Amino acid sequence: MKIAAAFSMAMALGASAAGAALKYTDANTGISFAGYSDDKGLKVGMALPDTPEKDLIMQIVGPAKAGAGWAGFDFSSSMTGKMLLIAWPNGKNVMLSPRIATGYVTPSVYTATDVKLSPIPKGTFVNDTHYSATFLCAGCINKDTFSATDADGVFAYAYSTTPVTTPADPSSALSYHAAGFSGFGMSLADAKSADFAKWAAMADTSAAPPSAPAPSVPGTNLTAPIRTSNTTYDYIVAGGGPAGIIAASRLAESGASVLLVERGHASTFSTGGKALMSWNSSVTQFDVPSMAYYLASSTLDSTQYCADTASQAGCLLGGSGMVNALMFVKPQDADFDDHWPAGWKAADVKAASDRFFEKNPGTDMSSADGKRYDQGAYDVLSSFFKSNGFSSVEPLKEPNKKVDVFAHPPWLIQDHLRGGPVKTYLPAAQAMKGFSMRLNTNVVRAVRQASWTSGIEVQNEDGSREIINVKPKTGKVILAAGALSTPRILFYSGIGPESEIKKVPSTVTMTNSSRIDLPVGKGVQDHTILTVSMKTKQPMKSLKSTAFTAPSQTDIDLFAQGSGVLTQAGQRLNFWTSVKSPSDGKTRFIQGTCNSPADDEVKLKVYLTHGLTSSADLGLDATGKITELQGTPWLDTKGDVEAIQVFFDRLVKMTAKPNSTLSIKMKDGSAAPANLTGAALYADVKSSQASGSHWVRSARMGLDDGRKANGSAVVDTNTKVYGTDNLFVVDASMHADLPTGNTQAIVMVAAEHAAAKILALGGAAGNGTAAAPCKKLRRRRSCASSAGPAAHRRHMHRGLVLSPHMKA
Ligand SMILES: Cc1cc2nc3c(=O)[nH]c(=O)nc-3n(C[C@H](O)[C@H](O)[C@H](O)COP(=O)(O)OP(=O)(O)OC[C@H]3O[C@@H](n4cnc5c(N)ncnc54)[C@H](O)[C@@H]3O)c2cc1C
Ligand SMILES: *[C@@H]1O[C@H](CO)[C@@H](O)[C@H](O)[C@H]1NC(C)=O
Ligand SMILES: *[C@@H]1O[C@H](CO)[C@@H](O)[C@H](O)[C@H]1NC(C)=O
Ligand SMILES: *[C@@H]1O[C@H](CO)[C@@H](O)[C@H](O)[C@H]1NC(C)=O
Ligand SMILES: *[C@@H]1O[C@H](CO)[C@@H](O)[C@H](O)[C@H]1NC(C)=O
Ligand SMILES: *[C@@H]1O[C@H](CO)[C@@H](O)[C@H](O)[C@H]1NC(C)=O
Ligand SMILES: *[C@@H]1O[C@H](CO)[C@@H](O)[C@H](O)[C@H]1NC(C)=O
Ligand SMILES: *[C@@H]1O[C@H](CO)[C@@H](O)[C@H](O)[C@H]1NC(C)=O
Ligand SMILES: *[C@@H]1O[C@H](CO)[C@@H](O)[C@H](O)[C@H]1NC(C)=O
Ligand SMILES: *[C@@H]1O[C@H](CO)[C@@H](O)[C@H](O)[C@H]1NC(C)=O
Repeated sequence: MKIAAAFSMAMALGASAAGAALKYTDANTGISFAGYSDDKGLKVGMALPDTPEKDLIMQIVGPAKAGAGWAGFDFSSSMTGKMLLIAWPNGKNVMLSPRIATGYVTPSVYTATDVKLSPIPKGTFVNDTHYSATFLCAGCINKDTFSATDADGVFAYAYSTTPVTTPADPSSALSYHAAGFSGFGMSLADAKSADFAKWAAMADTSAAPPSAPAPSVPGTNLTAPIRTSNTTYDYIVAGGGPAGIIAASRLAESGASVLLVERGHASTFSTGGKALMSWNSSVTQFDVPSMAYYLASSTLDSTQYCADTASQAGCLLGGSGMVNALMFVKPQDADFDDHWPAGWKAADVKAASDRFFEKNPGTDMSSADGKRYDQGAYDVLSSFFKSNGFSSVEPLKEPNKKVDVFAHPPWLIQDHLRGGPVKTYLPAAQAMKGFSMRLNTNVVRAVRQASWTSGIEVQNEDGSREIINVKPKTGKVILAAGALSTPRILFYSGIGPESEIKKVPSTVTMTNSSRIDLPVGKGVQDHTILTVSMKTKQPMKSLKSTAFTAPSQTDIDLFAQGSGVLTQAGQRLNFWTSVKSPSDGKTRFIQGTCNSPADDEVKLKVYLTHGLTSSADLGLDATGKITELQGTPWLDTKGDVEAIQVFFDRLVKMTAKPNSTLSIKMKDGSAAPANLTGAALYADVKSSQASGSHWVRSARMGLDDGRKANGSAVVDTNTKVYGTDNLFVVDASMHADLPTGNTQAIVMVAAEHAAAKILALGGAAGNGTAAAPCKKLRRRRSCASSAGPAAHRRHMHRGLVLSPHMKA
């Protein structure tokens, strides 16, 4: 679940559930609360003493009818760093779990020892329609909630009707909170009562906290039988996201036997996805481009997001490429040239890039009738940028023009539906004899004997465990579970810093050899997003969100013909520029994606991108189950903050011109003051700060072997994990740098290039150090292990030279 991500998404979309602030007296306990309720049975309330110190009483009521789920109270209105109180039914009992989300992340269990939750039994029950948790929250007024002297609070709630993963486990992963979420403000005076002490005395402070049952980590169910698959493969690819599908497909094209293992279920209609639209049962919500902005609030698929990653990620076939917003930004040369090592510069990856874009050209004109729909925001913003010296470009044709330019948004849409590897690589791979794929299969670890990886351990959907091996001496295992999950597989395989390996649940069968000390998770980066709202000076019409979530028959009929607004993703205009930060003199790039959330209003999502210097570490939480951030990678350096302020200075000046068609709207709805500065605008929009969901560098590529003192790289330039013979990483984790645009295009280009590198290894020695690429060798014995003996025989049979052939 993603309380955090969803709040940010809620703000980004301007979504909010119907509901109201309220004061009420609870009939069961007699306690008077101030809080919030929605119109579907969710209610949260707080009670405070007249003079608050450290304690408060909380009530969380959730609707139990539709399969229960969970409900939570957030002491912030966004995701940043405040405590969350979560309640859910476990049979007839109610579970309580304090959590914390450090930034835009999955909440981990909140472990401050001076916080204690004690149920008030009369108000804590499960009945036929609801579950109710009423409890004394001792020590809960602290640095992670609010101050005892605050007059007002800005809080939020979120809830789900899908049960948590392991209801009896207070640290359980939570299901996605599809039922509702909203921020709300309240006066703390409304929560105060002289009767607080009397009410607090009703709490059962002796109640032992619910004890945790056996961990629910995949692969840790030691009572499950373990078997070994009777099939071995030349290559096993762990993770069916964009990078994994591309790598697996290209490896299979060489004639090798390849197993692609994906933990999630099918996604698009053509792969058997089940999240069908009510208005067209031959497309899923993942197929329809206009749904890309509404997936987080859709209830059609409650498991599309990973429940155990540090930030939002897709856990279904196609990975985050299935849940993303379809932006498709072709990398500029600098994205590779600035920090990737030799062999991965723009010129080096050009062939791979050409192969990829030929199959996946992307488009800025998705409607078959050649028309663009809902262009109000484009019209006003394009003239605004043009009159301020920006020029119009076609970013898919001119990727290197990234300063003072604007464009119709480039999208990964093909034939009017979501494009990408599930559509353009997978079908051909599935037609190959050597290719097989397993869905709903969670890769737990690489099974490693010292430097050799013999295979993987998986947990199947039925809970059973299985070892799947690669071919002896020549096989290879490729991790592609995404930048927020591949590190966990590495940790569970005994690869990474000691601090993280120590947290691996003891029930995970750790590898039978010593730890490889690599800086896995160190220095991850992400784009930062800040949202600026502007008012148009002339009237401008905007489509309501229902135009997308409950489309008109006209639009449904147009879509059936491949046309109309439903074939478009959510953005209406993009811009790019760069700024130089005064303190470090470094150039940083800015990207904007814009649309119109309401009449007479446009919204600019301003991203700080390539060149930013903030970073954080990615590790395991205290339970060892969930990846979490250590530190925050957003605007954490002086230079990064300056970059935003320099850009905002310019934006303020642009809008302050007397003939400007747009004016800045402050957070409280007021017009921008005449003396507004970039720094003041930054202060005003700071609370909108959100993750770009563009994670890279969690298992970074470099020439400096991370096992050595001061070495920083986890994989070498063949994408092979240092210190191993045959373990590779091809997803966004291995990227050496953060690009200028949204990450999917560069992830796919890099995966194409990585597949070629891996094939070129040949690997006669089984560890990639066998020098010559196969294509130079024509004699059978010299290259017999390039892709395993079987593959070799197929190549020989077809009379092919043993080269990794890349169909463009
Ligand atoms: C909400 C959101 C919006 C985004 N918007 C955009 C956008 O508009 N444009 C853009 O360019 N980029 C966008 N991105 C980023 C882009 O989608 C990612 O950079 C890209 O998908 C990364 O690809 P990947 O193959 O590295 O990993 P992922 O896409 O994360 O794929 C990893 C795959 O591995 C699977 N997996 C994970 N763990 C295991 C395991 N243990 N065993 C088996 N399988 C496993 C996952 O289920 C998933 O299918 C967005 C991302 C998100 C989350
Ligand atoms: C269940 O409890 C909730 C919360 O106290 C209450 O609103 C509801 O009426 C109760 N339902 C029944 C059937 O008693
Ligand atoms: C563990 O495995 C056993 C046997 O397959 C199964 O019955 C049980 O449900 C599993 N437990 C969990 C928590 O997955
Ligand atoms: C491999 O195991 C599967 C079942 O797990 C079975 O159907 C198949 O026949 C076995 N193949 C061989 C060659 O033993
Ligand atoms: C505003 O005036 C400036 C200077 O005269 C001009 O360059 C610009 O195009 C005008 N902008 C608009 C939107 O008319
Ligand atoms: C551990 O690895 C060695 C080879 O390095 C092997 O001989 C031994 O059987 C392995 N033990 C287990 C429990 O896997
Ligand atoms: C659903 O959309 C597809 C286009 O993807 C179209 O071919 C089909 O006719 C549509 N069906 C309906 C019932 O509109
Ligand atoms: C801007 O003007 C307002 C009054 O309109 C004033 O309160 C504020 O301090 C000024 N800010 C700066 C940075 O000068
Ligand atoms: C590692 O870095 C430290 C501090 O930057 C430096 O003092 C040391 O010499 C470096 N060691 C090596 C082997 O480069
Ligand atoms: C790879 O294999 C070669 C030859 O067998 C050996 O010399 C080398 O040390 C191995 N490399 C690693 C990283 O194990």
